[in-house]
Amino acid sequence: MALLTILHHPDPRLRQKAEPVRVFDDALQTLIDDMFETMYDAPGVGLAANQVGVAKRLAVMDCSGDKAAPEPMVIINPEIFDTSDLEVMEEGCLSVPGIADKVKRFNHLKMRALDRNGNSFEIEAEGLLAQAIQHEIDHLDGKLYIDYLSSLKRERIRKKLEKEARDAARGQPAVAAR
Ligand code: NI
Repeated sequence: MALLTILHHPDPRLRQKAEPVRVFDDALQTLIDDMFETMYDAPGVGLAANQVGVAKRLAVMDCSGDKAAPEPMVIINPEIFDTSDLEVMEEGCLSVPGIADKVKRFNHLKMRALDRNGNSFEIEAEGLLAQAIQHEIDHLDGKLYIDYLSSLKRERIRKKLEKEARDAARGQPAVAAR
């Protein structure tokens, strides 16, 4: 397994619409395992493939929170087909580090997706899991939760992250420049 680099806003690859997964081969299984390791290491409750530079409709999640046992979930080519109870929820994203804000999400939804072996499943989700599913599917469509904020807030966030990226780059030896 390997830790993958999580792309940060405003990397243009986060804005690419991901393509459906059609091949369930060993490379996909390795990608899924690496995404889980990267998500747990971050730590985060969800990670979409395009956050690690792979434009495929795939995300990993674990919304177990403080519960004792982990609840890893893989969603591939996911589709939401029923929603209710729009609510304001606090949200953050591994690609927008150090920032959280309030957005409107459905507190209940039904989703169908494929699992890591390509088998179809349906779930009814609520609360944090429902929120995470909407957040990850947004990623797969090239959207970030900050798109729902005011343009003033978005601009402030972009400038902050660009400055952090510049500062981080200056901290690296010149030979490491990519
Ligand atoms: Ni995110």
